[in-house]
Amino acid sequence: MVCLSKEGVSLSYDPDARASLLLGDSFSIMRSIPDKTFDLVVTSPPYNIGKSYETAASLDSYLEGQKSMIRECVRLLKPGGNICWQVGWTKVGNELLPLDFLIIPIFRELGLTLKNRVIWTFGSGLHARKRFSGRHETILWFTVDSSEGYFDLDAVRVPQKYPDKRHYKGLNKGELSGNPLGKNPGDVWDIPNVKSHHVEKTLHECQFPVALVQRLIRALSPKDGIVFDPYSGVATTSCAAVLESRRSVGIELDSNYHEIGANRINSALRGSLRFRALEKAIQTPRRYGETLPLREEPTKASANE
Ligand SMILES: C[S@@+](CC[C@H](N)C(=O)[O-])C[C@H]1O[C@@H](n2cnc3c(N)ncnc32)[C@H](O)[C@@H]1O
Repeated sequence: MVCLSKEGVSLSYDPDARASLLLGDSFSIMRSIPDKTFDLVVTSPPYNIGKSYETAASLDSYLEGQKSMIRECVRLLKPGGNICWQVGWTKVGNELLPLDFLIIPIFRELGLTLKNRVIWTFGSGLHARKRFSGRHETILWFTVDSSEGYFDLDAVRVPQKYPDKRHYKGLNKGELSGNPLGKNPGDVWDIPNVKSHHVEKTLHECQFPVALVQRLIRALSPKDGIVFDPYSGVATTSCAAVLESRRSVGIELDSNYHEIGANRINSALRGSLRFRALEKAIQTPRRYGETLPLREEPTKASANE
C-alpha cells in the first residue's frame, strides 16, 4: 500500500507537486500532457531481452516503439531541454548488440543533437565464460537545441588529482593551474550498479542507481525544473529529483513497481531514503588473501549509507 502523507507524492498528474507518479501506459498517459512541459527527461527503457516487465518483440518493432516514445518525449521538452536515454544491450540471435548505435539514428532523425555518449561502468554483473563480461552501459545525452541546451558544469565538478598544482612559468606563474572548483567529471562514470547487496536494491530487476541520475539532474536541469521519466520502474529518477530539489513526473506500467516507487519518493521527501552517495569512494578490488587498504574517513556526503 502506498503511504500518502499530506506533502507526499501525487498519484495523478500535477505539475505543481514535488513529485507525481502515475500508474499506467506511458504511451496513452503522455498524450494528455501539454507540449513543452519538462526541462529534462531521464529514463532507461526496456532493452527487449525478455525481462519480466517486457513483451518480446522483433528488433524492428522494438525500435519502432522506441521511436514513438522518443518523439513523444521530445514534444514534452521545453526549448533548450535535455534528454538522457540510458541503454545497455539487446539480444539478436547469438549476438549481444549495444542498443546505443541503434537508438542514436532515431534521435538524429528527429533533429536532436548528441552532446555526449557517457560510458557508465560498474564492477559487478554476470560472469561470462565465452566472452568478456559486460561491465558498462551507456547514457545518450541529446539536446533539443544544440546551442541553447542547459548545462551547469560547475554543479558536477569532481576533485582534481593535484588540486594545489600551480603554473611554474609564464604569465600565470604561481597561480593554480586547475579550476579550484574541481575538474570536469569526464564521460566515463564509475558508479556501482544496483545488485543484491546494494543499499538501494528493491525487487526491480533493473533499477539504476540514484547517484547516476543525481549527476544528470544537477548538470542538465535548472533548480526547480521538472524532470520526467516515462519508464519509471521504482521511481529512481523521481527520488534523485527530490534530493536535487527538482519537481518530477514519472509513469510506470507495473503496479508493484509503482507502489514501491511511490513509497521511495515519500521517503526521499521525508529525508529518509537510503541511497549510495555519488561522492562515496569506489572500493578497490583486491586478490584473495590480500589485506584491505586503510579505510578512508567517510565524507559528510557519503554518510547516508
Ligand atoms: C529498465 S526498467 C526502468 C527502471 C528504472 N530506471 C528504475 O530505476 O527503477 C523499465 C521499466 O519500464 C516499465 N514499462 C515498460 N513499458 C512501459 C510503458 N509502456 N509505460 C510505462 N512503463 C513501462 C517496466 O515495467 C519497467 O519497470
